[in-house]
Amino acid sequence: MCGIVGYIGHREAYPIIIKGLQRLEYRGYDSAGIALYDGTNIKLSKTKGKVSDLKEKIENEISTKGTLGIGHTRWATHGVPNDVNSHPHTSNSGDLVIIHNGIIENYDSLKQELIKRGYTFQSDTDTEVLINLIEDVKKNENLKLGKAVQVALNQVVGAYAIAVFDKNKPNEIVVAKLGSPLAIGVGDDEFFIASDASPFIEYTKNAIYLEDEEMAIIRRGKDIKVRKIQNDNLVDPYVQKLQLNLEQIEKGGYEHFMLKEIYEQPSAILDTFRGRLLSNEAIIKMVGVEDNMKKFLAADRIIIVACGTSWHAGLVAEYIFEDLARIPVEVEYASEFRYRNPVITEKDVVIAISQSGETADTLAAIKLAKSKGAFVFGVCNVVGSTIARETNAGAYTHAGPEIGVASTKAFTTQITVLTLIALRLARAKGTMSSSEFRQHLIELEMIPAKVEEALKSDAYVKTIADIYKDSKNFLYLGRGFNFPVALEGALKLKEISYIHAEGYPAAEMKHGPIALIDEQMPVVVIATKKGHYEKVVSNIQEIKSRKGRIIGIVTKGDTSVKELADYVIEVPETLECLTPLLTTIPLQLLSYHIAVMLNKNVDQPRNLAKSVTVE
Ligand code: F6R
Repeated sequence: MCGIVGYIGHREAYPIIIKGLQRLEYRGYDSAGIALYDGTNIKLSKTKGKVSDLKEKIENEISTKGTLGIGHTRWATHGVPNDVNSHPHTSNSGDLVIIHNGIIENYDSLKQELIKRGYTFQSDTDTEVLINLIEDVKKNENLKLGKAVQVALNQVVGAYAIAVFDKNKPNEIVVAKLGSPLAIGVGDDEFFIASDASPFIEYTKNAIYLEDEEMAIIRRGKDIKVRKIQNDNLVDPYVQKLQLNLEQIEKGGYEHFMLKEIYEQPSAILDTFRGRLLSNEAIIKMVGVEDNMKKFLAADRIIIVACGTSWHAGLVAEYIFEDLARIPVEVEYASEFRYRNPVITEKDVVIAISQSGETADTLAAIKLAKSKGAFVFGVCNVVGSTIARETNAGAYTHAGPEIGVASTKAFTTQITVLTLIALRLARAKGTMSSSEFRQHLIELEMIPAKVEEALKSDAYVKTIADIYKDSKNFLYLGRGFNFPVALEGALKLKEISYIHAEGYPAAEMKHGPIALIDEQMPVVVIATKKGHYEKVVSNIQEIKSRKGRIIGIVTKGDTSVKELADYVIEVPETLECLTPLLTTIPLQLLSYHIAVMLNKNVDQPRNLAKSVTVE
């Protein structure tokens, strides 16, 4: 769970690498480092801290000259975050340099072998073991760098995206991938290497995404050679044309990526159903669903696997699929599913939801489901990501890059895609009349404008944030479609403000959490019209009589909750199953403003990373 960047070509490597690392900080930000080849020597600088700390250090410490370099932003797995454990790592001779995203599981036994052969280690990392293994193989078997990397990787158990160079052959970089992403940007007599395409988007739109178990030898003035790691088979690399543009990955005037991404939701939702939802013709067109309609219709049940916010989107989908399409749905944490010997058959459809498309547990759950013969459908945001490629079919959320670690627009676009699928299946199964179906399409089409309207509460939400920012705990309650929104609201607050928060189905409150309620406890209650409204109002009364502080998320024009609550935030009216797309907005804004007021690092909360590629 780290970010890697590399460059070889005719430009100065340093500015490309440092900017690239800043764009990849969502992948990890506890330490960073760069190695540059200046024409005679390797210049290395690394530090605990963020890429901005590295930038300051490097510019005081070493010459940044050189047209070949590699850089790394780390999220520690082996060894605490400190200068020594930061990447890049060099081999004992000082000739070879490596950056690595992933985990070498058998590093300890390899390390013991290398120690017996006289190698010494500065760091606690698995990566330093790998670079010395490569050196050992290279020396003992008198191999070229590419071959040595290949032989060494065949002794390794684990996951990696690596880039290696040899100071004695400074015209080439060797890269390899298994389990962690690796993109190669192909320019004019220059090549870029990165965990995703964002570091090189302004230089080239041509990218090769390495597949698992592939490696590439990248040489200036030569074609890239891609081959299988396990054997010597050459692979014809597929050069993709990237759709990404620079504005999409910059802040565009917002103070934080998270806020920008919250505000992007109207367009992200629109982009997600554009070309799929055709309300005039009363149809939904989704190639991945259409092509596999038989599988969906024959399914005994749908199992949704995901983690974190994506799991919450899965819970919303459970309500929607069951309500509209009458298909039984089970929602599983991918991390539990993969380890508990679940019953899966060929008659199951598994839907895997992942913004990054790289989450290790979700990926493992997919592999397990496929091995049992289930049909696996992916809902991913990152195009070409591992999960997008590993699933049998899928539908992208077209949210654009999500850089803020706390997921916002990914959540609402995931719900959008899942709603489209549920509606399409409902139509195919005949569980909805054509007029109901049409009404849902029309309502869904109005959601971007309604999200826009919900965003207008921003300034008011900020005043509420100011009132409650010093609370030690928060409770979030919701029922039905909005129960998962309560979970998501609590998660958002926890992860960026570090305030303890819990989400509950409103009716469960009386089975325990009600004991927590006193005048210090803010309770955020989602109480939109329809959806057991009266029952939620009763829950609010129960909170009120115990002096809890009530923040109601209500339908525009509501009067009953207004009478009881300390504050109410209105969202426009819509169909019940679509309310999560609106009620989520004030909860995202509330956590954002509280975190900013508490001076927290909103885009890069402590201990978290955007893409969790370790178990
Ligand atoms: C929360 C958050 C995480 C992710 C989770 C899954 O804001 O971002 O909980 O939702 O790590 O990540 P993906 O969706 O990339 O599989």
